[in-house]
Amino acid sequence: MLSYRHSFHAGNHADVLKHAVQALILQALKVKDKAFVYIDTHAGAGCYDLHSKEMDKTGEYLEGIKRLWQADVHAEMQDYLATVKALNNDTELRHYPGSPLLAKQLCRPQDRLVLSELHPADFPLLQQLFVGDRRSQIHRVDGFAHLKAALPPVERRGMVLIDPPYELAHEYADVVKALIDGLKRWATGTFAIWYPVAHSDDVRFLERKLASAGLPETLQIELNVLPANNRYGMTGSGMMVINPPWKLEQQMAELLPWLVDKLGQSAEADFKLRWLSEPH
Ligand SMILES: C[S@@+](CC[C@H](N)C(=O)[O-])C[C@H]1O[C@@H](n2cnc3c(N)ncnc32)[C@H](O)[C@@H]1O
Repeated sequence: MLSYRHSFHAGNHADVLKHAVQALILQALKVKDKAFVYIDTHAGAGCYDLHSKEMDKTGEYLEGIKRLWQADVHAEMQDYLATVKALNNDTELRHYPGSPLLAKQLCRPQDRLVLSELHPADFPLLQQLFVGDRRSQIHRVDGFAHLKAALPPVERRGMVLIDPPYELAHEYADVVKALIDGLKRWATGTFAIWYPVAHSDDVRFLERKLASAGLPETLQIELNVLPANNRYGMTGSGMMVINPPWKLEQQMAELLPWLVDKLGQSAEADFKLRWLSEPH
């Protein structure tokens, strides 16, 4: 069952958090000249029209990227917002880059991109976006299964983004399994897992499973634009980053209050930044 389409949600507050963190991890990888790999297990269509009929129904980007794309750029948002701005003219926000396009713009000629997407309508859009890009391998396969095949990468450095739709109850357990299997194959890779804050039981499940899995250092980054409740859909979102770049905690400590200020939808908006598994 593949009913989820990211075109209804592109550029919302959760995408802003996810893509800002993704850009900071890529920035840290680029400090060394040596090539790295970017693996995206659930890539989506790659680029989104914010004036599409899907977006007309939800308008989610209005409470997300629209609120800050023209704001004074926070230092930690520079790479991410430069990519958004490069897709648009100065006055109109029309297009939004998904995680694969952000990576396409931020990776260097020597880096490699491995993208998986299953949806029959989104896969060709993604493929089209990468025509002629010799750094990328794009697969219409199950991203969890393909992750196993892709690890360990020859480069021995890089990041994995795991960003499933969480439409199916077992996807939380799938994420935990994919992560544990992935770390067995590639203990030093940076794994970034996105999760929604919608049902507190699901978040607690993920926290409990990851905290007890004996993982390497794991940073939890969460942005709650509304106070948590179990009734009104997604009130926030988070990222679990395993083997984060050493500066990420400090960068997020500076960025999260700014994001709360820009994206908060109530006086109770807040953030969480903590080690789920401590640095050694
Ligand atoms: C949240 S969206 C991805 C958004 C994208 N990572 C971004 O940030 O722009 C999740 C995507 O996963 C795809 N998908 C669902 N199950 C999948 C699977 N088992 N393997 C690969 N892709 C899958 C969906 O079609 C959807 O496009």
